[in-house]
Amino acid sequence: MDFRNRMKRRSRSVAAAAGPMVLLALVMWSSVATVMVEAAIGVNWGMLSMHKLSPKTVVDLLKENKIRKVKLFDADPEVLRSLRGSGIEVMVGIPNEMLSVISSSSAASDLWIRQNVSSYMVKGGVDIRYIAVGNEPFLTSYSGQFQAYVMPALLNLQQSLARANLAGYIKLVVPCNADAYESSLPSQGSFRPELTQITTQLVSFLNSNGSPFVVNIYPFLSLYGNSDFPQDYAFFEGTNHAVVDGANTYSNAFEGNFDTLVSALSRIGYGQMPIAIGEIGWPTDGAVSANLTAARVFNQGLINHVLSNKGTPLRPGTSPVDVYLFSLLDEGAKSILPGNFERHWGIFSFDGQAKYALNLGFGNGLLKNAKNVDYLPSRWCVGNPSKDFSTVESHLKLACVTADCTTLDYGGSCNGIGAKGNISYAFNSYYQLQKQDVRSCDFDGLGMVTFLDPSVGDCRFLVGISDSDATTGCRVSAARLVFAFWALIFMGVFVF
Ligand SMILES: *[C@@H]1O[C@H](CO)[C@@H](O)[C@H](O)[C@H]1NC(C)=O
Ligand SMILES: *[C@@H]1O[C@H](CO)[C@@H](O)[C@H](O)[C@H]1NC(C)=O
Ligand SMILES: *[C@@H]1O[C@H](CO)[C@@H](O)[C@H](O)[C@H]1NC(C)=O
Repeated sequence: MDFRNRMKRRSRSVAAAAGPMVLLALVMWSSVATVMVEAAIGVNWGMLSMHKLSPKTVVDLLKENKIRKVKLFDADPEVLRSLRGSGIEVMVGIPNEMLSVISSSSAASDLWIRQNVSSYMVKGGVDIRYIAVGNEPFLTSYSGQFQAYVMPALLNLQQSLARANLAGYIKLVVPCNADAYESSLPSQGSFRPELTQITTQLVSFLNSNGSPFVVNIYPFLSLYGNSDFPQDYAFFEGTNHAVVDGANTYSNAFEGNFDTLVSALSRIGYGQMPIAIGEIGWPTDGAVSANLTAARVFNQGLINHVLSNKGTPLRPGTSPVDVYLFSLLDEGAKSILPGNFERHWGIFSFDGQAKYALNLGFGNGLLKNAKNVDYLPSRWCVGNPSKDFSTVESHLKLACVTADCTTLDYGGSCNGIGAKGNISYAFNSYYQLQKQDVRSCDFDGLGMVTFLDPSVGDCRFLVGISDSDATTGCRVSAARLVFAFWALIFMGVFVF
């Protein structure tokens, strides 16, 4: 049996716009630290959405659900401003593409810290606790292209933090994919041979700064990518395929994977290294094993496991330092190279509605929906039933390359709504993305606007939300363009 995560190609576009330079203020957070409630469960908040909720709505959603820890993939000024005064602990991120410049220039490192961290560390500001230096920089599919930058970037950033008097409060981490280590049994875990040296340096650095090792673990990808992987082993409900490893028995992939990492750390001399889970979750759509029931059972099982402090055979009675669910919201502009499920990881849909009943364990009951969502009017675009659809194919292609049709394919929630349903779904996705511009429902006369919700069963025809923020629109379309390009290649279609 294979304990490893499947290789994952998660690309995140880098927002190019630099935020305004804010004066550095050296008011520290000394008192806040002791008051903070310790809650181990946090969420990843990614931004690659086609319909972007306003950051303020998202922060209200976090508060309403008593979520106290959030992990970001960059340091978007609008997002950070919306987190001011929220008391939420934040992990900001430095995208892989920025590691090179930060590793080679202490001025660039200083500037990054000043602009994206120090300026928010004021009274009533943002409680930044961690900086993720790169995102899965050792991922196998990157073929080592970021590897050499990681240590020099960490060293520069640590000095920048020290110069900003923040080194005691903010910790640098490097989220790694679980493909950094391997083994057939947890007790035999070791880092990939070509990573032994760098992980030894990394872990020694983390250890001297009191930082945890951050790992992303995805039992879903193990199941999705491997038809021999026993389904019940991916969940926490007990298994008929327990793995016996000497005196230890493993009943789920999470524990097996976690202990493989513990063994790998022991092998390089850091068996006691604290571990945080940077990403873990289950998607709800876009593959047969990605559905609401499975996602709820996995995530609730995970949360209960973490809150029980049951631990794992190699670390009994303890939990990971932090566990960040992947993800808070669906991100419809993500690349689907890994699979259609990639756009459906949210515990909330893109518009902040809870997808299933989940208790995060904060004494707050089940997930609560976002409030005051700024929806477009209740209107949909569908195929006009009186028309002949023989020429619809090119419209469908364009609509689905631009907007999101991932639920239509096999394993998706809208697979099986029929040929006409497919057309209407694609038309509507495009129309909503164009903010219900009436021209975007034309399709050479094949489309028409309706006021009756065409949703059928679990297949939801969405209504878009209005972006209040203009700069957001730019960024989203950049992300979409990148995606559209890949989607075209993926589909083998070259429209340009
Ligand atoms: C701060 O972070 C943003 C968002 O990740 C990035 O675009 C910007 O370049 C960063 N600032 C500096 C000075 O590197
Ligand atoms: C949901 O996913 C689980 C496993 O991930 C699978 O066993 C089950 O058949 C799926 N349910 C449906 C209705 O497809
Ligand atoms: C609807 O579209 C999906 C995805 O392209 C396809 O698998 C399915 O066969 C289509 N249904 C019909 C009835 O054409």
